Amino acid sequence: MELVPLTKYNYLKAVKLCVAPEQEKFVGTVADAIADAHFCDDCEMRALEVNREFVGFIMWQGPHLSRLLIDCHHQRKGYGTMAVKLFIETFPGRQVTLQTKVDNTAAIALYTNLGFKSIADHGGAVYMVR
Ligand SMILES: CC(C)(COP(=O)(O)OP(=O)(O)OC[C@H]1O[C@@H](n2cnc3c(N)ncnc32)[C@H](O)[C@@H]1OP(=O)(O)O)[C@@H](O)C(=O)NCCC(=O)NCCS
Repeated sequence: MELVPLTKYNYLKAVKLCVAPEQEKFVGTVADAIADAHFCDDCEMRALEVNREFVGFIMWQGPHLSRLLIDCHHQRKGYGTMAVKLFIETFPGRQVTLQTKVDNTAAIALYTNLGFKSIADHGGAVYMVR
C-alpha cells in the first residue's frame, strides 16, 4: 500500500470512494474532507493506493487521525489496518490519537487490535490513544 498525496490530477478518483450506506453515519465523504482540509493549516490527506487503484482515504492533523475510510468494495482485506499502521509510523515515538463513534464497532475493533486504548467517551464519541 502506498499513501498518495492528493493533487489536481488524482483527486476526482479519491472523491469517488464510498462506504456502505449503513456506514455513512460514521464518516464524511472525501469531498467533505477536501473542503475541511482547505481551511486547516496542518491537515494531511492521502489516498490509499494498492495495485495502482485507490482503495481508501486517510487524513490526519498532526498525530491525530481525523478520517479513515476504505471503499466498500475493498473492506475486510486488511487495508484499514495497513493504513493506520502507516499513519502510526509517520509519528515515530509519538502518542497518536483518534475519535470514533461509540457504535462503530468495526473501527473500534480495528484500532484496539493495533493497541489503541479508549480513554474517554462523551456525546456518542470515544477517544482513543496509542
Ligand atoms: C472501519 C474500516 C476503516 C475498516 O476497514 P477494513 O479495511 O475493512 O478493516 P480491516 O480489513 O483492516 O479489518 C481489521 C479489523 O477490523 C474489524 N472489522 C473491520 N470491518 C469489520 C466489520 N464490517 N464488522 C466487524 N468488524 C470489522 C475486524 O476486527 C477486523 O479484523 P478481522 O478481519 O481479522 O476480523 C471500514 O469498515 C470503513 O471504511 N468503515 C466506514 C468508515 C469508518 O467507519 N471509518 C472510521 C471512522 S473513525
